[in-house]
Amino acid sequence: MKQIGNIYFIAAIAVIGGGLFGFDISSMSAIISTEPYLCQFNQQGNDPDTGICRGPDPNLQGGITAAMPGGSWLGALVSGFISDMIGRKTSIQIGAIIWVIGSIISCASVNIPMLIVGRVINGFSVGICSAQVPVYITEISPPSKRGRLVGMQQWAITWGIMIMFFICYGCSFIPGAAAFRIPWGLQMIPALLLFLGLLFMPESPRWLARKDRWEESKAVLTLVHGRGDPDSVLVSREMADIREVVEFERKNADVTYLELLKPNMINRTHIGVFMQIWSQLTGMNVMMYYITYVFTMAGLGKDVLLPSAIQFIINVVMTVPALIWMDKWGRRPTLLVGAFFMCLWMCINAGLFAVYSRPPHPGEFPSPSESMAIEGAPAKAIIASTYLFVASYAPTWGPVSWTYPPELYPLRVRGKAVALATSANWAFNFALAYFTWKVYVIFAVFLFAMFVHVFFLFPETANKPLEEVEAIFDYTNPGSIKFIGTPAWKTSNHRHETLRLERGDVSTEEKIGLEHKESK
Ligand code: BGC
Repeated sequence: MKQIGNIYFIAAIAVIGGGLFGFDISSMSAIISTEPYLCQFNQQGNDPDTGICRGPDPNLQGGITAAMPGGSWLGALVSGFISDMIGRKTSIQIGAIIWVIGSIISCASVNIPMLIVGRVINGFSVGICSAQVPVYITEISPPSKRGRLVGMQQWAITWGIMIMFFICYGCSFIPGAAAFRIPWGLQMIPALLLFLGLLFMPESPRWLARKDRWEESKAVLTLVHGRGDPDSVLVSREMADIREVVEFERKNADVTYLELLKPNMINRTHIGVFMQIWSQLTGMNVMMYYITYVFTMAGLGKDVLLPSAIQFIINVVMTVPALIWMDKWGRRPTLLVGAFFMCLWMCINAGLFAVYSRPPHPGEFPSPSESMAIEGAPAKAIIASTYLFVASYAPTWGPVSWTYPPELYPLRVRGKAVALATSANWAFNFALAYFTWKVYVIFAVFLFAMFVHVFFLFPETANKPLEEVEAIFDYTNPGSIKFIGTPAWKTSNHRHETLRLERGDVSTEEKIGLEHKESK
């Protein structure tokens, strides 16, 4: 089958896997309070006075909601084995098929166990796709565009959240079970596109090389990086780098998760895992969840459409600057600036609520979660600062949390290491249902901690050929720190050199000089 070599096209198809993650996030929130849902899954029976369906009790609803992240956690972990064994591309295709199966079960579900099973299966698929799509794109991208291309996964997530929210909101006006069956059925379409689209995409050249499929590996690099010319300088250099690494790695037996804990890998393992833990502890999901409460507490009504729609649109639009510039900015500055601003908005929200709010009058708001009332200018400032928070996460921690982990590891452990890092996303992926302003303070403290952590321990990886990132973590180099490698604050982004290398006008001496500079 003829394969497509345009890297943007390859990434655009692959990140549909990220879109499924977005669907996952918003597939429940607009549905759980609708009558068709409550009546179909009416564990508590009808209210004796009003006759209204009461749906599942809150604990069980918590379980139904958590079934998806639970499945994703497992799917991400398992994806490391699958992807090392059968390939990056094929494992994403398997993820797409699993999504379709899960969606059929959720869409057709007639009782709570069936719904839980459907959601676990959907989650499992999202775990596989969201861990292996970044690995696949990382291994097939030229270094100077890697951030942007993997960052497209975050963009797809934000699109997925927004599209699914609008579909669910729109369908909530349809009478009967179609209100939830339609969205849960429609979500199959992108997964089918993902599966079919990938049939025309090449496999990761690095995975092929690792499986000793050298000719295919070279053919992919020629197609994607060499504009069809097998003798292009870039293709020859990449092949030489890959060969060196694969041959070196060949001496090691097959990798297990335990290898990630060895002295030369533990630093990287902790950085990758913390990348995802911190991305969750920024409080982004809590902020997104709170926006409807904040609107109600500010006296702007209880309709979820407007506050959520504004927020999801900001999230999509503000991811775009990262796609354009994140490779130029580098990973470290982007993370540091993001943590700084998010911390600021958290502190402003905490301060305003602490000083200007009052307890609500009995019955003033529909939900006990809306535990404070606030009016006038402070209320407007809180809404603005909540949106500014989303606008700060979207171009920074959102995309970098997907771009950074796969860049850190050598080929032989990449599949499993990214799988582990991604599983940490779900272990910490939660939204606190009950509002209190003190939560803002807790997240502000986390944001401060991640700023310090990134400054001291997260090195710059942007624009470095993957095989070169290795040198940063080599702690036998002079000037490096034991078990850590080159101090993170001494690493930098050599974009100009990389762009020249990709154009083919860098001499070997210069390239060696570049590596040397980094390891000092
Ligand atoms: C995070 C999700 C979050 C989303 C928001 C992703 O990077 O992993 O937890 O909901 O960004 O855009």
